[in-house]
Amino acid sequence: MISYFDSHNIDPQHLLVLFEQADWARGRSLKDIQQMLDETDLTISAWEGTHLVGFGRVLTDYVYRASIWDVIVDRNFQDQDIGKGLIQRMLTHPSLDQVELFWLCTRHYQGFYASLGFSDKEQTGMVWDRRKQPPLSST
Ligand SMILES: CC(C)(COP(=O)(O)OP(=O)(O)OC[C@H]1O[C@@H](n2cnc3c(N)ncnc32)[C@H](O)[C@@H]1OP(=O)(O)O)[C@@H](O)C(=O)NCCC(=O)NCCS
Repeated sequence: MISYFDSHNIDPQHLLVLFEQADWARGRSLKDIQQMLDETDLTISAWEGTHLVGFGRVLTDYVYRASIWDVIVDRNFQDQDIGKGLIQRMLTHPSLDQVELFWLCTRHYQGFYASLGFSDKEQTGMVWDRRKQPPLSST
């Protein structure tokens, strides 16, 4: 049975293992993952017993905007509605019930998010990636 939690109290080692499955998250460090957990507004994790099988997180102002990041389900547990369970728990979380608009970025999973009510018709995103910029000095 899959259990879902909204606690930030996750051993970053569990997340490190899960993130190794995704090209966009591979190579993250335990220290940075711990900081990410500490500074994130809402995390939802899915567990089978003590095994972390899914994760996603939200950054938000709690009223106008929320963005969803790092949604991932262990490849051995995909297609069992766990991704759907993570997103639904974010959209219906009591702390976010005033939020007007949720935003996320996806390259390959438009169908998955469309099945949950997301649309790509109204918004397009642009990204500034520090790793692809020349060195900047602060102004
Ligand atoms: C995207 C991801 C989180 C989906 O999680 P999942 O647990 O496998 O998805 P679910 O089983 O909850 O699927 C929910 C619904 O979306 C559908 N769906 C899943 N993946 C889909 C896809 N790629 N295209 C279209 N529909 C999809 C399912 O058929 C299901 O529909 P149903 O409820 O009508 O049966 C998972 O595939 C994943 O972790 N991928 C790798 C990590 C990654 O790249 N994440 C980036 C997300 S932006």
